[in-house]
Amino acid sequence: MIRLLSGVKLSKQILVSLSKEVNSFGLCTSLHVMLIGSDPASEIYVSLKEKAAKKVGIDFVLHRFGDEVSESVVQEKIIRLNSDDAVDAILVQLPLPKSYDTDRVVSLIATQKDADGFHPDNRRAFCDNSHDVLWPVFPLAIVRLLDFSEKNYVGGQAVVIGRSDVFLDTMACALRRKGLRVKNVSCEDVVSGSVDVSRANVVVTACGIPNLLRADHLSDNAIVIDGGVARVHRQVVGDVDRSSCERSQKHIILSPVPGGVGPVTVACLLENVVRLAS
Ligand code: GUN
Repeated sequence: MIRLLSGVKLSKQILVSLSKEVNSFGLCTSLHVMLIGSDPASEIYVSLKEKAAKKVGIDFVLHRFGDEVSESVVQEKIIRLNSDDAVDAILVQLPLPKSYDTDRVVSLIATQKDADGFHPDNRRAFCDNSHDVLWPVFPLAIVRLLDFSEKNYVGGQAVVIGRSDVFLDTMACALRRKGLRVKNVSCEDVVSGSVDVSRANVVVTACGIPNLLRADHLSDNAIVIDGGVARVHRQVVGDVDRSSCERSQKHIILSPVPGGVGPVTVACLLENVVRLAS
């Protein structure tokens, strides 16, 4: 048995409330997005961000650069945006071209204009439980979905499955801040079967491996947030085998792909932009 957590519904709620906030306070807010190269997925993500920003009343400014542009040109642009008082928030769409040093570029964004919350100083402050730092957007979207389930998960066990240490560590900080115990595991450990997630009350997965998790891997009443993105026969799918959850006797609460984390991440980004401007 499955109960779906609709990220589309939740994102609409967040966008409506942001739009009310922007309009009632007459906030003039601007988000500057830098898009470098021609990654097709990035084009789609950026256009979704633009559409949502317009709905809320946020001024969306796109700075587009070709594949051939050097990192130093991009760096100079960030420095100029940092010192421009008309710019509230900056986002560099990832991934960057292979020749770029992503950490160096992201670290150049002024911490007080970092819409994604990806700047290393902001991530560190977030993990140190600093209350005046914004939540990074992906963990924020995940805890919003957990809360949307209306289940009491405080004190439960969470397992986070992912590829990068930065992702795993930041997710662990976020879930601990929400009162969960957290175990981080690599995607490879789940593939090889050397890690068991069947006792977890909350599972967050972001591997991009279709059918990585089936109902028999999961506990009864588990809340599963699927952040995986892969393409199978041109369809976008997550890490969870949804049909096995539908057939199972277990109750599984699933944030699906598509229509789960994706739209909520966009809404949470705009929430950060409004916070940065207020
Ligand atoms: N690429 C994929 N997701 C994201 C995101 O949330 N922020 C940025 N900057 N790039 C991305």
